[in-house]
Amino acid sequence: MAKLTFVNAHGKGTGPLTIDVAAGVSILDAAEECGARVGHACGGNLACSTCHVYVQDGLDSLPEVADKENDIMDKAFDVRFESRLACQAKMGQADVTVEIAEESLRAWLDENPDARTAAHAKK
Ligand code: FES
Repeated sequence: MAKLTFVNAHGKGTGPLTIDVAAGVSILDAAEECGARVGHACGGNLACSTCHVYVQDGLDSLPEVADKENDIMDKAFDVRFESRLACQAKMGQADVTVEIAEESLRAWLDENPDARTAAHAKK
């Protein structure tokens, strides 16, 4: 088990969320398990880039980026050196910290319209 921290698990300005994750579990599957708002328009099938995250710590502990992930990452916005697709990045034994990309947070809201409505009602 390693610790996985989402620094903005529920959107911009929300606090971090840390969970224990077994080796081999993708960051996307871990996010779904704990309710972190990582979008996944293609259902984790490496076709959309909406699961874009920035790995702040532990980047070296994740499997290397495959050519296909690189190809799909070309569709993403604001790609950085530490960018990964959460559906492809599987946890190892080391702790990892990620920031969910803005496009991923937006995609999650598109996929969860009830949460979007609730967020607007609070404003
Ligand atoms: S969920 Fe679509 S590429 Fe990861």
